[in-house]
Amino acid sequence: MALWGGRFSQGPAQSVAALSRSVDFDWRLAQYDIRVNVAHVHGLTASKVIAAPDAEKIIAALKELSSEIEKGSFTYNDSDEDVHSAIERGLIAKLGALGGAFRAGRSRNDLVVTDFKLYIIDHIMEIAQTLSLLVDALNRVAADYKGALAPGFTHLQHAQPINFGHEIAKHSHSFLRDIDRITDWLDRNSISPLGAGALAGSALQPHPEKSAEELGFTGLHLNSIDAVSDRDFVAEALFIFSLIGIHLSRIGEEFTIWSTTEFGWAKLDDAFSTGSSIMPQKKNPDIAELARGKSGRLIGNLTGLLTVLKGLPFAYNRDLQEDKEPVFDSVETLQVILPAVIGMIETTTFDRARMAGGAVAGHALATEIADFLARSGVPFSQAHETSGKCVRLADSLGIDVHELTDAQLSEIHPSLTPAIRATLSGEGATSSRASLNGTSTSSIAAQVESLVAQNSKALKKIEDARSSFSRMMSI
Ligand code: ARG
Repeated sequence: MALWGGRFSQGPAQSVAALSRSVDFDWRLAQYDIRVNVAHVHGLTASKVIAAPDAEKIIAALKELSSEIEKGSFTYNDSDEDVHSAIERGLIAKLGALGGAFRAGRSRNDLVVTDFKLYIIDHIMEIAQTLSLLVDALNRVAADYKGALAPGFTHLQHAQPINFGHEIAKHSHSFLRDIDRITDWLDRNSISPLGAGALAGSALQPHPEKSAEELGFTGLHLNSIDAVSDRDFVAEALFIFSLIGIHLSRIGEEFTIWSTTEFGWAKLDDAFSTGSSIMPQKKNPDIAELARGKSGRLIGNLTGLLTVLKGLPFAYNRDLQEDKEPVFDSVETLQVILPAVIGMIETTTFDRARMAGGAVAGHALATEIADFLARSGVPFSQAHETSGKCVRLADSLGIDVHELTDAQLSEIHPSLTPAIRATLSGEGATSSRASLNGTSTSSIAAQVESLVAQNSKALKKIEDARSSFSRMMSI
């Protein structure tokens, strides 16, 4: 059903209707549309544009429509342009002419952006909650492997030994920042565009701040032109989704490398890996690869929206209809990838012996020699130089630097006494880094404790926001 037509001698050409039609994707907004319409009808009742008994009938019909949509007995048809027109068709079928009364004083321009904001609020909270499960899973693995020695890399070259729990816990921090960005997004974007009308505000809806409150917003867009034009909240959400994708891609990359025969660190669970149609022996890290690959489309969705917005004139332009599909796609992409990644993290086992075996290879303890000398009062430039000489000697002998004998070490520098052995081992090196941010077993234990506390605090905030949102949605 079209919501316009009086001034036209004929309906749109078929090609125009096909181009214009958004209902196939914006039907996802149906329940939010109903909720926003209920708030709007309350506003129209307060301003006496709709008489109270009529408002009751309209609201009852909207409720009925909501449960029919839920059950699937009401849906869009070929004649509907978008979700808003489909719902109005449903109302008119129930109420006759009265079904068209509720849209006085608002435009699809303020309606669509309000619906869409509610959709994102709802889904971004769900994503935050799933991220919190991901952080939980990471925290558990980090705690399990807090004392498991492993090589630490820079430039993908052996650098210094670490405990593997530290390597895993770093991801918890990224995802906690994502959750934090989501709560920050929720705080900033909790302003309602409803009541902006087409662009100039609504003469029939004098108190849009009341609708804002009813819809759970903490404030109102104070400029009606900004209200219908603003898609910053969409761009910000797509950025958050992209960054989550990037974080997932970096985990994906690690699990892919760690599960190679060359590394042999990670053993993926059968339920969280896939086979090859030709090579019977294969067990592939497809989840990790999809986590890495899907970041591409998440970034593409952000880039697409930013391109639509660039240079766009203010107030509503039909270009803005292009804001929704990227968000639906990003949300639905995260909805499939996050549970699989959580499962992969929970079920992968790591080979402690294999990781420990490589922890000090590649002269990874050279920094310990320099640090030992610095602690003995040797200026660091000289300490660095001396450690370099030890590496050169070890290289010429075909051994690692920590395998030099006490005699060979003290010959290179008299301060290199046997006391150096306390830190010239994987265990010694990691436990000497016992600062709050360090890789010692005790530091990791404290770090995980703090991560767990941060995560439960963040989760509580999201859960509270989710339950007030669902109270608001239930009409
Ligand atoms: N389907 C449109 C959208 O998603 C709804 C708003 C249409 N407004 C208009 N003035 N044509 O943006």
